[in-house]
Amino acid sequence: MLRFWRERPAPSRPTGEWDLDEPLLQWSGSVNRRPADHWTIRDSLDGTLICGATGSGKSSGSGRTIARSFLQTGYGGLVLTAKADERSHWETYCRETGRSDDLIVFGPEQPWKFNFLDYEVRRPGSGAGLTENIVNLFSTVLEVAERSSSGGGRDDEGYWKRAARQLGRNLIDLAILADGRITVPELYAMLISAPNSLGHLTSKTWQKASLLYQALKRAERRVRGEREKRSLGLVADYFLGEWPALSEKTRSVILSSFTSMLDVLNRGIACDLFSGETNLTPEATWAGKIVLIDLPVKEFSEVGEFAQVLWKHAFQRSVERRSVHADPRPVFLWADEAQYFVTSYDMQFQTTCRGARVATVLLTQNVSNFYAALGNGDRGRAEADSLFANLNTKCFHANGDPVTNEWASSLIGRTRQFMMNGSNSRQDAMISSILNWGDPAQTSAGFSEQMDYEVEPSEFTRLRTGGPANGLLVDGILVRNGRVFASNRRTWLPLTFSQK
Ligand SMILES: Nc1ncnc2c1ncn2[C@@H]1O[C@H](COP(=O)(O)OP(=O)(O)O)[C@@H](O)[C@H]1O
Ligand SMILES: [Mg+2]
Repeated sequence: MLRFWRERPAPSRPTGEWDLDEPLLQWSGSVNRRPADHWTIRDSLDGTLICGATGSGKSSGSGRTIARSFLQTGYGGLVLTAKADERSHWETYCRETGRSDDLIVFGPEQPWKFNFLDYEVRRPGSGAGLTENIVNLFSTVLEVAERSSSGGGRDDEGYWKRAARQLGRNLIDLAILADGRITVPELYAMLISAPNSLGHLTSKTWQKASLLYQALKRAERRVRGEREKRSLGLVADYFLGEWPALSEKTRSVILSSFTSMLDVLNRGIACDLFSGETNLTPEATWAGKIVLIDLPVKEFSEVGEFAQVLWKHAFQRSVERRSVHADPRPVFLWADEAQYFVTSYDMQFQTTCRGARVATVLLTQNVSNFYAALGNGDRGRAEADSLFANLNTKCFHANGDPVTNEWASSLIGRTRQFMMNGSNSRQDAMISSILNWGDPAQTSAGFSEQMDYEVEPSEFTRLRTGGPANGLLVDGILVRNGRVFASNRRTWLPLTFSQK
């Protein structure tokens, strides 16, 4: 019963015109005169989640098929990378779809630079929300930094998050008030010279040595108007009052999380890529560029994670701002091994990005990964669940994870299943559901019915995982939120992808 996907012919679209109902893929051929199922541009904009164990064929099966369809149709996009081989895969996809000229590799030994702070300051319309935008960006990076150091979301994170945001807000306001610009090295230098005690404040030696104190003095001379004066008053109250009065332990926890993030951004590759000039911004994707962040997490660890999350956040904010009338091209956000990159902002983004023409595709092994990444508390789970609910297309590959398999079965739903009385030989759920059996009233005695999963969780352990042993075939089960497939009139569609 498994059917093959088919690629659509190459598009012939006059520039600027996008028909959202244009099919990207045909999931199935027409069977028994039933119509075929298409996956359209509009469908892609509702988000996609691909789940399967390591080696189940996520990347080389459904992932590759979807990626190629985006490229072939002319999408721009941002590709986050976890594994070192992802760049070469995307180079191949782009070559095969005639998009090599649009691929921009952002990484070491490449000409591209992105000074994210400068970008925020200079972009049109930043103004009043500037500090808050940068605080949001830093707190997103801090979220992943904390996660990798503590091995998961913390239950008491509310307090620390608020405290770190407060520090960030004051630091950024101070930089703007003192110099009218924000740079990572200056933020770092100010932060490490903040007063550690109330005694510091009157010490001439401290005043002379502290770059933070000098910035306060510069700001005092520079501020104009009531609003700026009020801002400076708040910043001074914070650094000269609240901050040194915090307990040593509290202060050091807040300080160390913030300085360790700035420290990573302040040296080596990250400094080269993110602290100098800017010749590449997320807007490049609107014009059809595919920006691949070639700092795979598995090779560059923390630097890779920060770089990808910075780009992801900047990209998400940029597409939220864009006018799709002026820039109508669909763009994609691609995250294979997405558990490394997921942050709480993704949930918010996915619920509000409807009109922004962005196709998010997340690939991961299991749902538990996401719960762990976003914190196992109620809030983390709620965020992960909301994110999943807002990724409308789901493709499940072979998996041994019972939580994910149960979840996939429950998404597909329950139907009447028929049991043979007095016998343990249960009908295989997949077969019985495919055989569209008739009304139970007409079935012979000896059968009974019960509501059961239409596709049992164990079915997901049996799907083919590609490679030579499976003839290069990868099985998947496709589910679309609240949709019935036309070709089999069910809420799920079995698919086979070729790795050739
Ligand atoms: N082009 C290919 N030809 C043959 N085998 C492949 C190809 N690509 C991947 N494989 C194999 O198929 C299996 C699934 O790979 P992959 O798509 O990378 O899984 P996942 O992304 O789910 O971890 C692995 O055993 C892998 O070695
Ligand atoms: Mg993979």
